[in-house]
Amino acid sequence: MPLTHTRDLFTKALKGKYALGAFNVNNMELIQAIVEACEEEKAPVILQISKGARQYANPVYLKKLIEAAISVTNIPIAVHLDHGDTVELCRQCIDEGFTSVMIDGSHLPFEKNVEVCKRVVDYAHKHNCVVEGELGQLVGAQFDEGEHGGSFSKGGVYTHPDEAVEFVRQTGVDSLAIAIGNSHGAYKFKGAQHLNLDRLTAIKKALMDASLGDYPLVLHGASSVPRELVEEINRTGGKLGEDAAGVPEADIEIARRTGVTKVNIDTDLRLAMTAGIRKAFLDNPKEFDPRKYLGPARVRVKELVRHKVRNVLCCAGQAFD
Ligand code: G3H
Ligand code: 13P
Ligand code: ZN
Repeated sequence: MPLTHTRDLFTKALKGKYALGAFNVNNMELIQAIVEACEEEKAPVILQISKGARQYANPVYLKKLIEAAISVTNIPIAVHLDHGDTVELCRQCIDEGFTSVMIDGSHLPFEKNVEVCKRVVDYAHKHNCVVEGELGQLVGAQFDEGEHGGSFSKGGVYTHPDEAVEFVRQTGVDSLAIAIGNSHGAYKFKGAQHLNLDRLTAIKKALMDASLGDYPLVLHGASSVPRELVEEINRTGGKLGEDAAGVPEADIEIARRTGVTKVNIDTDLRLAMTAGIRKAFLDNPKEFDPRKYLGPARVRVKELVRHKVRNVLCCAGQAFD
């Protein structure tokens, strides 16, 4: 079975009102764990590759590993460039057959972000590829500066609803990553903070009102940093901070119901793998066969992905509809 196009996965997910997991992959064990879990749960999946993953594993290895995964399963698999930072990198991935690329110009001024994104869109659309852009900044669990009384500051770091409409119109981008308090890594929230789901609703509505339809939104930094994984890692010799915290799964569920179609998860995979390896080392200190610690770690990642697709993203059972 060939790769499935990201565009087709989005169309079905929007229609079926479920979210797609976009899981970061860096090596064979991660790819196997994600694909096996999704196969058993009959879930479509996006495997995403960052620039760092390409540097770590070599793009050819990743491509061949994904080809191998596709040849042993029937589930729909799309391949996405995560956080492309230059037009050149995006072009390279498009030429290599990625079904979607992200151009991350979120750190640039609006006009420059539009310009860079449009260049990627122009190339991608000529080569049967779709593009994710990003507007707003994921600088941590922050409140939008200048937001008072329900009005939205254009100087804040959250995505502004009107600007989202302008950005999509001017670039022709196929999906949009938004900033609503989400951030990358294992230290997202302090205390009992949450995603700004009102802002998400406002962005979705603005796009709808502007006749852009049920427009696909993307949530980066969507790991939940499960407390039990953090504690297990620390019990087995790790030193993660007490303040490690992620997005509550209930927030992700509301985001899914409000119209987030692609949910990016990397940190939780890293935590599951680390917990598995640490436990194996502690249980069997004399062991030095990598299969004996990477194998259990792979099982832990698989169980985590199974939980996400079944209970959080609700894409289990959607692979063949
Ligand atoms: O959002 C970034 C992803 O977690 C990828 O991280 O650049 O370390 O591969 P990376
Ligand atoms: P997490 O760090 O929350 O897993 O986010 C991953 C991500 O956004 C990849 O683009
Ligand atoms: Zn991201």
